[in-house]
Amino acid sequence: MAAPLSHFPQLLFFLALFSDLWPCFLSAVNITHLPGFAGALPFRLETGYVNMDADSGAELFYYFVESERNPSEDPLLLWLTGGPGCSGFNALALAMGLLQIASMIFLDWPFGTGFSHSRTDKDYFTDDWHAKQLIYVFLKKWLLDHPFFLSNPFYMGVNHMVGKWLHLFLMRLFKVSKLPIFISYEDGYLIGNAITGEKGDKNTQASHAYGLGLISEEVYKVLTGDLLSNYWLNNRLVRQALHIKEGSVGRWHRCDFNVNAHHYKRNIPSSLPHHRNLTSRGYRALVYNGDHDLKVPFVGTLKWIKSLGYSILDPWRAWYVDNQVAGFTTLFSNDITFVTVKGRESHNAGNRPAQCFGMFKRWISHEVL
Ligand SMILES: *[C@@H]1O[C@H](CO)[C@@H](O)[C@H](O)[C@H]1NC(C)=O
Ligand SMILES: *[C@@H]1O[C@H](CO)[C@@H](O)[C@H](O)[C@H]1NC(C)=O
Repeated sequence: MAAPLSHFPQLLFFLALFSDLWPCFLSAVNITHLPGFAGALPFRLETGYVNMDADSGAELFYYFVESERNPSEDPLLLWLTGGPGCSGFNALALAMGLLQIASMIFLDWPFGTGFSHSRTDKDYFTDDWHAKQLIYVFLKKWLLDHPFFLSNPFYMGVNHMVGKWLHLFLMRLFKVSKLPIFISYEDGYLIGNAITGEKGDKNTQASHAYGLGLISEEVYKVLTGDLLSNYWLNNRLVRQALHIKEGSVGRWHRCDFNVNAHHYKRNIPSSLPHHRNLTSRGYRALVYNGDHDLKVPFVGTLKWIKSLGYSILDPWRAWYVDNQVAGFTTLFSNDITFVTVKGRESHNAGNRPAQCFGMFKRWISHEVL
């Protein structure tokens, strides 16, 4: 793959550091048509496998969508869908609308999730510590094969359960690489409805639910969307169009129950110290919650942010999209922006797209929310 000339010094540096990973660890293909969509896709979609272990045949599957604005300058975002065990497809198809301003990688992780697979049983059993290492190596390999994106601002986005250990992963990434390549002062992370592991995450559930009531119609809509993606991604033609390796995985599940309940060990108790570490070292953070999320009520999220002890630069106030209140926001020192999105449930509701887009666009452009 050709790299633009301006990227060349970084590329050589990068290659020198990670030459042990070379070559033949990645197979990718550009997808132009998908069953159910008339005509050519209006954006660049790539799917691919990154080989993580040649002996065991372990491969992580990803979807990559290039920014429609200016891919050479727009941020590159690695999005991790939580569970663990939920396919990156959830975010790509049901929760996102960011493709206009950022290039995004949606990863099926760990093995056993979505289309990520291995020939060896033991690869399916993993934990927080191994998962962060896995994702770290995945990213290195992906960038090595896509050097065009080496100098773009890099962000990670996560939701729910991933929020707990992401920060450890980032710490490691920054510590090990110390590269000016994709670690600029601009880099940062965003987390949606994130669980930290602290008590406050959940023990505000009752009061939150009390104030909210039940939202059965929207839950119903989400369930319907469930059914549709399960049907679509298990269709033979769709799998062929996405270049899924035949026989690699059986039925596709939006979220794999076995990964979540049996194969994945959660062994990092709290991410709070790591939030403190990262934000005190200059990495900006966008922490947002749907104010209808019952799993991770925003009250709890606000509580842990406040416990970091940073001063408040811009106190709780409404923010707007199209002259309508889109939610509330507070800006803390060390560049932590907390945001609620009005009427949004959880990460996967796929609702409030205009609000979420506005939030992301302003934040990534360093604009006031
Ligand atoms: C996909 O398309 C882009 C842009 O045209 C090109 O740079 C890239 O090499 C292609 N990737 C593959 C795997 O063919
Ligand atoms: C920051 O991280 C370092 C190394 O991981 C750790 O030793 C230290 O206690 C952390 N600091 C805070 C304030 O949590």
